[in-house]
Amino acid sequence: MKRTIMRPGGLPDSASTPVVTPLMPSVVYASDTPDALDAQYEGRAEGYTYAREGHPNADVLARRIDALEGMSGGMVTGSGMSAVAAVLLGLCGAGDHVVGGNQLYGRSLRMMAEDLPRLGIATTLADPTDVASVAATLRPETRLVLIEVVSNPTLRIADVEGIAALCQERGVLLAVDNTFTTPLAVQPAALGADIVIHSLTKLLAGHSDVTLGWVAAKDAALMERMRVFAVTAGFTASPFDCWLAERGLMSFDLRFERTQANAQRLADHLAGQAGVTRVLYPTRPDHPDAARAQGLLRGRGCNMVSFEIAGGRPAANAFAAAADGVAFAPTLGDVGTTLSHPASSSHRALTPEGRAAIGISEGFFRVSVGLEPVDALLATFDAGLNAARQAT
Ligand SMILES: Cc1ncc(COP(=O)(O)O)c(C=O)c1O
Repeated sequence: MKRTIMRPGGLPDSASTPVVTPLMPSVVYASDTPDALDAQYEGRAEGYTYAREGHPNADVLARRIDALEGMSGGMVTGSGMSAVAAVLLGLCGAGDHVVGGNQLYGRSLRMMAEDLPRLGIATTLADPTDVASVAATLRPETRLVLIEVVSNPTLRIADVEGIAALCQERGVLLAVDNTFTTPLAVQPAALGADIVIHSLTKLLAGHSDVTLGWVAAKDAALMERMRVFAVTAGFTASPFDCWLAERGLMSFDLRFERTQANAQRLADHLAGQAGVTRVLYPTRPDHPDAARAQGLLRGRGCNMVSFEIAGGRPAANAFAAAADGVAFAPTLGDVGTTLSHPASSSHRALTPEGRAAIGISEGFFRVSVGLEPVDALLATFDAGLNAARQAT
């Protein structure tokens, strides 16, 4: 490390190396000479210049997610939404048409409904569980289709392979947001997606202490367009967030197995309880897309369970208050179980009729299952259900 007047100490020499990735919060990187800087900008020498353009902690994390997804050259961004925006705003322009899944994450839906049309990009929503519904929306100017593999909060399973084949045939880019499913269950690039997106904020970082995203494209030129746009728009990730996410990622496969096993147990437990009118979990035979889930998720589930109780809002209030062993908070993928009530949070902007059309009632809850001992978890849900029954 260069020693300057201001920082004469630099780093002590060491013949050994740290086993943990060093945290490098530096915003700027000093070069030796203008010629050396030229070499970096012209790609003849490796190195960083300014952190908005890229920094070591983001690159270390990006390479790890690349490896999980079986891709290369991905980029870490400051949030999942900035990864979505890098795709939609970085690759599409006025006159293009974009198709989105009709149950995308709320902010992605908002971008489709408000922001893209404001910029002259037409949008249409389609049901990603039905490839014919997607095919019916395609136009000659359709540039891109954006879907999620498992929808939030109703846990419907998209026909990823069918839509990938359709997009390939029609020369349309397919972008898949793999946040819910994670690469341990599904690798969208292997199924034909051109672009894969993550909110690392959720399962991959896993501790509810960072907000980050990641995006990669198979085509290097498309990736470069997204990268340049993301750098210009300032979608940069914080080095400390990247460092924390890298640490979280080291236990991801263990967390994935445990949360999935807990989720399966919780789903089966809830399904037998008085007052529970519906349980949605991909590996259950009563799931509306059970056959597709079996193939696509290779027999595995996910960490999310959705369920409905009788008794409307009064029962929902009683349930949330009594199930106090889990956090009533609208996020997912944390080490601790979180409970969300879409009618009062993620889907509150919809009318009751709009919510009913996608199966979300006042008694509908979504659970992101964590790592707790499963018996304690089931006991908390039983306490909630008892209270809900008494409230009706
Ligand atoms: C499927 C999906 N995509 C994208 C996002 C946005 O991620 P972030 O909150 O990191 O911006 C979320 C957030 O919940 C999500 O669930």
